[in-house]
Amino acid sequence: MRLPYSRQASRKTRISSFSQAMALGLLCLGLILLGGLQTKAFFPDMIKIPPLNKVPFQPDFQDDQFQGKWYSLGVADNTIQNGNGSQLTMYSVNYELQDDHSFNVNTSMLRDEVCEHSVETLFPGFQPGQFTLGNLTSYRGVMSYIVRVAATNYSHFAMVYVEKIVRFKWYYKMTLYGRTKKLRHKLKERFIKFTTSLDFTKDNIAFSVPIGECIDG
Ligand SMILES: *[C@@H]1O[C@H](CO)[C@@H](O)[C@H](O)[C@H]1NC(C)=O
Ligand SMILES: *[C@@H]1O[C@H](CO)[C@@H](O)[C@H](O)[C@H]1NC(C)=O
Ligand SMILES: *[C@@H]1O[C@H](CO)[C@@H](O)[C@H](O)[C@H]1NC(C)=O
Ligand SMILES: *[C@@H]1O[C@H](CO)[C@@H](O)[C@H](O)[C@H]1NC(C)=O
Repeated sequence: MRLPYSRQASRKTRISSFSQAMALGLLCLGLILLGGLQTKAFFPDMIKIPPLNKVPFQPDFQDDQFQGKWYSLGVADNTIQNGNGSQLTMYSVNYELQDDHSFNVNTSMLRDEVCEHSVETLFPGFQPGQFTLGNLTSYRGVMSYIVRVAATNYSHFAMVYVEKIVRFKWYYKMTLYGRTKKLRHKLKERFIKFTTSLDFTKDNIAFSVPIGECIDG
């Protein structure tokens, strides 16, 4: 009399192992789909040809005219997603030209009510207007860091492109600098047109709020 019961039990087991296999199959399918989605999300960062190839050089770049103080007026940055919803605090950078044509770049930035200065060295690259960050090993995780002056008229504005790889992830941004804190409408429009002609979207672009403290020194 036990047989039917155990048969039933084994049938039950078979059914449940069938449904387990089924569940496992669905799980696998789900993982494959998820994997596919992740690959898609992963893909643009890793495989996309960096926009560096499209970024122009300021023709006939003159480092001695470029040196001195600039204010950050705005930025197009692939990590910014909400465009003008972002409020950026203006900072200043002082490009100090050295005898070997490298720049000591002194950045002054107000952060949590504290004025912070940081200095980095940019060494000339293979073409005038392009630089690489010196002393890479002292920046944790930074594997590559390229700076290119894409456009400037030295006396009013500069558009400086930075492309870096940090922990195998690609970052790129174009910063708009001005010799004064005032951003004129024409320059703003020009910057938007220029950056969206590269790989940036309007949502990647944000402009700075001028401040009085810290950056005037
Ligand atoms: C953000 O952009 C939208 C559309 O271009 C515009 O209507 C809005 O006024 C902008 N907001 C700010 C704070 O600039
Ligand atoms: C490079 O970094 C090290 C360690 O942070 C520092 O001691 C050194 O002065 C730096 N050299 C240059 C040329 O910036
Ligand atoms: C530099 O650019 C600014 C803003 O676009 C413009 O007003 C100025 O006339 C330009 N200066 C020169 C020397 O081209
Ligand atoms: C950077 O600039 C600030 C403000 O002008 C100054 O106090 C600081 O000494 C500078 N740092 C270097 C290393 O030049």
